[in-house]
Amino acid sequence: MSDKKKIAWVTGASSGIGKALCIKLINNDWTVIGSSRNINNLKNLKLELGENFYFMTVDIKNRNSINSAVKKIFSEIGNIDLAILNAGIYQPETDGFNIDISEDTISTNVIGTMNCLSAILPEFIQRGNGHLVLMSSIAGYRGLPKAYSYTSSRAAIINLAESLKIDLTSKGIKIQLITPGFVDTELTQKNDFYMPFLINSETAASMIIKGLSKNNFEITFPRKLSYIMKILRILPYPLYFLIVRQFTKK
Ligand SMILES: NC(=O)c1ccc[n+]([C@@H]2O[C@H](COP(=O)([O-])OP(=O)(O)OC[C@H]3O[C@@H](n4cnc5c(N)ncnc54)[C@H](OP(=O)(O)O)[C@@H]3O)[C@@H](O)[C@H]2O)c1
Repeated sequence: MSDKKKIAWVTGASSGIGKALCIKLINNDWTVIGSSRNINNLKNLKLELGENFYFMTVDIKNRNSINSAVKKIFSEIGNIDLAILNAGIYQPETDGFNIDISEDTISTNVIGTMNCLSAILPEFIQRGNGHLVLMSSIAGYRGLPKAYSYTSSRAAIINLAESLKIDLTSKGIKIQLITPGFVDTELTQKNDFYMPFLINSETAASMIIKGLSKNNFEITFPRKLSYIMKILRILPYPLYFLIVRQFTKK
């Protein structure tokens, strides 16, 4: 067996779940490329993680810069074995629907993820292997109040991952979807409501690492919240709207 380290690319590595994932992957003997926009956070992570960690400052909304960054990984570091497309944003829409928030959220969470996908997929298909993991959320299962852009962006990623799974498994590519509940990061620190079953990013990263080695399509946690959301997901509309209104009214 070759002792060459496997290579992982994690987007959204500068904070939260992505950062915790980079740390865990390095500790599990991977070579890791972490990308995001905040260069200072990435430099600090490099100091912490050492020679097996590489970083790239890229905005996933910019397709050209993603394409050149991924080409650079292939030519200077090696083939990507695992891509975790984790980068994303969330802005609460407490004042109602807001097209600026929508544009930013959809162009980051959906188009940004698709930009990353389009940069690596042809290589994965040509090689006939690769492990592709898309970050979504249990918030994408159904519409939720005051998060118009976020829940729709997360629903889009669930559907995208399902489509990819159907088409790419036979081409040797492993597709997985991550649907976390509430994780304590900068993203959720904007919420002014109680977040049930809140976990920290280290626990979230451990659950993800565990899930990556399995063959389940979906990596979802914490289990209790995930089960509740899965039940809500299959309820008929009148019952779903009634329950959600009841539990989210102030
Ligand atoms: N926290 C939760 O409860 C939760 C639950 C379910 C799903 N998620 C998902 O998990 C993912 C990570 O979120 P988190 O909670 O860890 O939040 P976070 O700490 O805010 O991390 C978000 C990461 O995405 C990067 N990012 C944002 N926009 C980017 C862009 N245009 N280009 C490149 N990188 C960008 C950020 O880096 P820069 O700002 O440096 O670019 C940061 O590294 C998100 O997709 C989120 O939707 C989170």
